[in-house]
Amino acid sequence: MAAYEYETHDYDVVVVGAGGAGLRATLGMAEQGLRTACVTKVFPTRSHTVAAQGGIAASLSNMGPDNWQWHMYDTVKGSDWLGDTDAMEYLAREAPKAVYELEHYGVPFSRTEEGKIYQRPFGGHTTEFGEGPPVQRTCAAADRTGHAILHTLYGQSLKNNAEFYIEYFAIDLIMSEDGQCQGVVCWKLDDGTMHVFNAKMVVLATGGYGRAYFSATSAHTCTGDGGGMVARQGLALQDMEFVQFHPTGIYGSGCLITEGARGEGGYLTNSKGERFMERYAPNYKDLAPRDYVSRCMTMEIREGRGVGAGGDHIHLNLSHLPADALAERLPGISESAKIFAGVNVNKEPIPVLPTVHYNMGGIPTNYFGEVLNPTAKDPNAVVPGLMAVGEAGCASVHGANRLGSNSLIDLVVFGRAAAIRAGKVVDAEAVPAALNQASVDFAFDRFDGLRNASGATPTAELRLEMQKTMQEDAAVFRTDKTLKEGVEKMTNVASKVDDLKVTDRSLVWNSDLMETLELTNLMPNALATIVGAEARKESRGAHAHEDYATRDDENWRVHTISRVDGKNVALSHRPVVTDPLTTEADGGISLKKIAPKERTF
Ligand code: FUM
Repeated sequence: MAAYEYETHDYDVVVVGAGGAGLRATLGMAEQGLRTACVTKVFPTRSHTVAAQGGIAASLSNMGPDNWQWHMYDTVKGSDWLGDTDAMEYLAREAPKAVYELEHYGVPFSRTEEGKIYQRPFGGHTTEFGEGPPVQRTCAAADRTGHAILHTLYGQSLKNNAEFYIEYFAIDLIMSEDGQCQGVVCWKLDDGTMHVFNAKMVVLATGGYGRAYFSATSAHTCTGDGGGMVARQGLALQDMEFVQFHPTGIYGSGCLITEGARGEGGYLTNSKGERFMERYAPNYKDLAPRDYVSRCMTMEIREGRGVGAGGDHIHLNLSHLPADALAERLPGISESAKIFAGVNVNKEPIPVLPTVHYNMGGIPTNYFGEVLNPTAKDPNAVVPGLMAVGEAGCASVHGANRLGSNSLIDLVVFGRAAAIRAGKVVDAEAVPAALNQASVDFAFDRFDGLRNASGATPTAELRLEMQKTMQEDAAVFRTDKTLKEGVEKMTNVASKVDDLKVTDRSLVWNSDLMETLELTNLMPNALATIVGAEARKESRGAHAHEDYATRDDENWRVHTISRVDGKNVALSHRPVVTDPLTTEADGGISLKKIAPKERTF
């Protein structure tokens, strides 16, 4: 057994991660007087939410008619009928409240002439239950909305006495013998000390796992740490096969160019200069949902109409927009285009390509953020003491495909929901439970094993092999052949974790070891993704299967549940929640309106 000295900390709540969801949860917990710690591997305002550009969806009706029922309908349709209806209603209903709270906390939103929050159009957001024109629903702070939200929430959390443990890496969850989460074991990166957090509630807000792929808009820190920790405890992951490709990553670097660019009037063209989205989506054109636009772009390239010397990308045109509009509404991406593509957006198109951007799947939760145990006898059973929010979680509001700007609203609505729930279930007076020492020891043993790993495979080499495999075999379009090969390759890649080689044995700022720990988190996420994709014999949302071109609601309107053990993945299913929270008589949406139908744009 590895012998590490450690310091113990007792809290009511420990939030792991300080992005939008983590900070909103932290703030909500602290506001209620719960003793709250937020543990984060990067400085809070450097969390990946800082890179969110275009905005946050809420039916405020500042720029024209809108209501939560239309927002809910668009989310249901966007999810390709795989989202849980109760959670999607909760998201759409609570969104305006959550955005006004942000405004009152101090988020510097862009403004209309009348001083209201500015809202722009985004893909898949419409009026009249998809029968009317696009709606301006996405509330924006220029094209730096995530940055504005993150800074505000961090300040507010500090004001409410939340305690931050910054540059602490969460190694593993502490679970009791009977399956209750009791806390988390952490490594302090800058001095090498070890820390055990004992908590009545642990909230995983660790973000997505975009870095399982070679090219992603996600930060290098997006390594699915929460999913990894959950998988190691034998708990479930859900709907991992649904990986979103954002249509406009900069060709080469993968850096994000916000969908807000198309919302403000930008459009895509092929090598003939044709606005090809008019052919594929006559009503919504460039503002069709992301899964659809990414597929159309890929088809244009495949059919020989890509741009550039290799004919392997697409152009995003903004130069027809007034220079002052670009400067006011899209200053960030104008700068990114200059830096990463050498393009002056006032004069030239930006070279773009669909790029991995978001994980619809994650740790299954109910709409309070409580982690589900979907294979328990009671399908609504929760894992006591454990919550997951934001991209790490899967409530599931995005189903098979997320609408742009529904991510930021997911972060704050469910971060807030988790705090409301914790206020009810966490007993601040209770004495903290005695920790399960065997679970603490497991974490230190694993850490020590990796620290001293002396195999033949360097971490960077294995990570690259995983990223290339995922990029090639779990792409925008998938086939039986690519997926079967992908599963074989990834199983082999995962088996090499036992042969890792770590060269730095120190404990202070050991990036070799930290990247190794991250790789062991990425791996179960990646495996579950490709195994889930291979098993799903239909096309739905972001899962475009060329051998099964249509959606199959009879057999596949179910969530995929995966349990990962080393290189093995066991799959099962969980029914989609089809009932909304309120009936039509109570002002809700009718079941007929949200019944599955063909998705056309
Ligand atoms: O395009 C964007 O600004 C990204 C937004 C999102 O993923 O929600």
